[in-house]
Amino acid sequence: MQEVAVLGIGQVPVGEHWDKRLVELAGEAIFAALEDAEVNKVEALYVGNMMAGQLDKQTHLGALISDWIGFRGIEAMTVEAACGSGALALRTALIAVSSGLVSSALAVGVEKMTDTSPQETTAALATAASADWEGVHGITFVGLNALIMRRYMHEYGWKHEDFAPFSINAHANGANNPNARFQSPISEEVYRKAVMVADPINLMDASPIGDGAAAAIVVPLDLVKGLAHKPIVRIAGSAVATDSLAVHDRHDPLWLSAAEKSAREVYRQANLGPDEVDIFEIHDAFSIMAALSLEACGFTDRGQGPRLALEGEITPTGRIPIATMGGLKARGHPVGATGMYQVVEAVQQLRGEAGKAQIDGVKVALTQNIGGSGATVISHILTAAGI
Ligand code: COA
Repeated sequence: MQEVAVLGIGQVPVGEHWDKRLVELAGEAIFAALEDAEVNKVEALYVGNMMAGQLDKQTHLGALISDWIGFRGIEAMTVEAACGSGALALRTALIAVSSGLVSSALAVGVEKMTDTSPQETTAALATAASADWEGVHGITFVGLNALIMRRYMHEYGWKHEDFAPFSINAHANGANNPNARFQSPISEEVYRKAVMVADPINLMDASPIGDGAAAAIVVPLDLVKGLAHKPIVRIAGSAVATDSLAVHDRHDPLWLSAAEKSAREVYRQANLGPDEVDIFEIHDAFSIMAALSLEACGFTDRGQGPRLALEGEITPTGRIPIATMGGLKARGHPVGATGMYQVVEAVQQLRGEAGKAQIDGVKVALTQNIGGSGATVISHILTAAGI
């Protein structure tokens, strides 16, 4: 297996892109990545997407997008793992390139969620839960996460306001990211007074619906070493793990075992541990997910995610800065694109190209993309050259 590096990145701002079709969004992110990489062709394209079949009535995105971008004929396919589809595209590109079967690959995550009514979009999202045991009761992802959060508060004694720092940090960081869906900081009062969506999850606990696309080009590390025009970013670890779709089937519904497994595996591959991670692009689809991910990835003890946040350790100057460009909460969560946004942002931070959101001295970045309420979890560790 050969080592793999990220040669180029591209993204479109997350928003309500009613004037752009899915292929146009994907194309914009891809052309930006090609320009950034200073290349004009790749051998393969892997597309991460969750809902185009339901919301756009369009499947077969690999061939569609490769044709749209002028690369008709190349290897191309779609990969899907609900909200984890984006990072799965990177993982697929990495497997292809590291095996030597493909010499260069594009991974793009794309999703369009705002052309349909919120009811249609919410129903499509819910298909990633267990249809037999969860969807059949009409529960949504906000509802499922509300059940998990309520149980967590009961077990560990946290109050709703203890989760405020997750949202405040994400919105403060999103204010420094021109590609974020929301670019205004929020106060604790705004958090407390936000409208309730599914008790105890209020508007400020939930990531928004939005459209977006983000892309990266991966090539063998040896190739980049020769022609590096930008700081080299290596993919030092990549792992996928799974759990039951239905929350009630889990041994402990308050423990993201797939997040723990995939994090452990990327730490092993990169030969480092949580203490050496400089930033964590976390899957904060809901504030409870941020708390559970921090615990599963070894940044704090079980039940103590909110304490880490309350002590300021998740902010840009804390021990483990998370959601450095706004996270899912403020940058936005165009589901099948999200994992690629996380990777693109990690590369920006590692290259020192994160603008006002830049964190000093980032050498090791962890990204973690979660499908469903924890059923598929994809983790990556990206490092600056030499690490
Ligand atoms: N955080 C902060 N503000 C939000 C927001 C969010 N998550 N969602 C919407 N808003 C804002 C909008 O910008 C809008 O502001 P404006 O009035 O100043 O323009 C206002 O709130 C109303 O927006 P609207 O789109 O009508 O909200 P909504 O009530 O239809 O949707 C949620 C709100 C929380 C229900 C929706 O964002 C949602 O379903 N989120 C979860 C998505 C999800 O489940 N993803 C998958 C996770 S696994």
